[in-house]
Amino acid sequence: MMRNVYIAATAMFWAIVLAFWLSSAWMPQAGQPTGGPADRIISTTELARHASPASCWMAIRGDVYDLATYLPNHPSRPDIIEPWCGKDATWAYDTKTKGRPHSRTADELLAKYRIGKFSP
Ligand code: HEM
Repeated sequence: MMRNVYIAATAMFWAIVLAFWLSSAWMPQAGQPTGGPADRIISTTELARHASPASCWMAIRGDVYDLATYLPNHPSRPDIIEPWCGKDATWAYDTKTKGRPHSRTADELLAKYRIGKFSP
């Protein structure tokens, strides 16, 4: 009887150890990037392939944004923003090309279009 309890308890113990080990295998490791599409690295060459309003990527402050679906909603004339497709547009975004920064609302909107990290 005691022997059965002992065997059951030991089996339970190792089952729990195994469960922890398996769960840690797919958990993100501390100190490592989380990976996945959000953290893909985008080069200047790849960025430059998206230089039209139909496929418009911009690098802004070290991150890359896919702005094709946003362009029609931007409040300025299209010719103000469209020339920045396919380029590092940090300066243009930070100044609106008029020495005025975008609002916090614009910053929050921008974050929704992030597709990766810029590696010039
Ligand atoms: C990178 C090139 C860009 C340029 C040159 C540019 C320029 C401008 C200009 C001239 C205006 C209208 C005038 C003004 O409000 O002062 C404006 C307003 C605005 N832009 Fe842009 N823009 C750019 C990119 C973006 C992006 C990527 C977003 C967001 C995804 C954005 C969001 C907004 C918003 C929300 C406004 C309304 C005013 C504000 O919230 O600051 N813009 N932008």
